[in-house]
Amino acid sequence: MHNNGLIERYRKFLPVSESTSIITLHEGSTPLIPAYKLGAAIHKKLEIWLKYEGLNPTGSFKDRGMTMAITKAVEEGYKAVMCASTGNTSASAAAYAARAGLRCAVLIPEGKIALGKLSQAMIHGATVVQIKGNFDEALALVRQICEEHPIALVNSINPYRIEGQKTGAFEIIDDFDGIAPDFQAMPVGNAGNITAYWKGYREYREAGKAENRPRMLGFQAAGAAPIVLGHPIDSPQTFATAIRIGNPASWKTADLAREESGGVIGMVTDHQIRDAYRLLAATEGVFCEPASAASIAGVIKLAEAGYFEKMKPFKGNFLRLVCILTGHGLKDPDSAIAAAEKPVTVEPKEEAILEVLGLLETAMA
Ligand code: F0G
Repeated sequence: MHNNGLIERYRKFLPVSESTSIITLHEGSTPLIPAYKLGAAIHKKLEIWLKYEGLNPTGSFKDRGMTMAITKAVEEGYKAVMCASTGNTSASAAAYAARAGLRCAVLIPEGKIALGKLSQAMIHGATVVQIKGNFDEALALVRQICEEHPIALVNSINPYRIEGQKTGAFEIIDDFDGIAPDFQAMPVGNAGNITAYWKGYREYREAGKAENRPRMLGFQAAGAAPIVLGHPIDSPQTFATAIRIGNPASWKTADLAREESGGVIGMVTDHQIRDAYRLLAATEGVFCEPASAASIAGVIKLAEAGYFEKMKPFKGNFLRLVCILTGHGLKDPDSAIAAAEKPVTVEPKEEAILEVLGLLETAMA
C-alpha cells in the first residue's frame, strides 16, 4: 500500500475536512521492529518491539505532529510559524513550512542542538535564532511572540501537534491486530508525546479498535527530571539534548497518562542512557539518538528493580513492550563518535590490517 501520509491514513480520527488541503511529506507508517535478543537479555518474560520513528521524513516523530500543525496553519490563513526547540521540532517545522510555502522561525538554546538537527533547520530556510538560554526560556518567549503577532505556534502545546502524534498509537495497535502492547516505553521531555500516545490509545480503545490499553512508561534524564522530582529544574542538564527540559509544558497530562494507565515515570542517568544507546545499536542494528535510548535504559532499570516479575501479559506468555525510538541516530553523529570505539589508522599494508583484525598469526601459519 502506498503511504500517503498519516492524515490520509487516519483521517476519521483527525480534525480535517474534505476541503482541507493536506501538507504532507508522507510521514508515519514507520516500522515496528522485533528486538527478541534485547528483550531476552533484559528479562526472560519480555518481548520488546522498537517503533522506529527515526524513519520519518525528517528523522523524528515530530513529523507526525507537524503534518497536522502545518496543514491547519495553512487552513487558518497563517503566513508564518514559529517554535522553540531542542532540535527535532525545529527540523520538522522548517521542512513542513518549506513545503507549505510558509515562513518559519525557530528559537534554540545556543550550543545544545545536535549537528544534524541544526543543519536541517538551516537548509530548509528557517530563520534560526539561538538564545543564550535553555529550551524552557525559548518556549516562554515563543508563546509571548505568537500571542502578540499573527504567527502560528507549532510546539506541542498546539493541540494539532498532539492530534497528529496520537497516530503512533494507532499504528502500533493496527500492527498487532487490535491488541495494544502490555507496556509502552518512551523518553519524556516537554511531555507532548506521552500525552499524544495516551490519547491515541484511549481513543482507539473507545472506538472499538483495540481490546486493551498499555501501561505507559516514561523516562526523563536524571539531570532533567522535573516530573520525577516533582518540581521544575532551573538548569536542566543531560547529554541527551533532545530532552534537556526543566519545566515541561504538558506536565499535567503526562502525570495523567501515568496514573490512568497504571504506569511509571522514572529517570535514568546519562551513563545508563549511553550504555543503552550503544547496546541497542550493537545488538539489534538499530541506531537511535541518545534521548530515544532513554526508553531502553528505563526498561533495563525497571527490570533490575523487579518491576516485571509480578506483571501478567494481556495475551500469550510474554510481556509485550514497545519502545518508541523517537529520533534517528544520524541526527547526532557527535554523540555516536564519542560513545563508540575510535577507528584505527594504519599504513596501507595487508600485514598492518591483519594485525588490527587479530589475524596476523593465522595468515602466517
Ligand atoms: N525524543 C526526541 C528525539 C525528542 O526530540 C524529544 C523532544 C523527545 C524525545 C521528547 O518528547 O517533548 O514530547 O516529551 N524534542 C522537542 C524538540 C522538545 O524541540 O525537538 P516530548
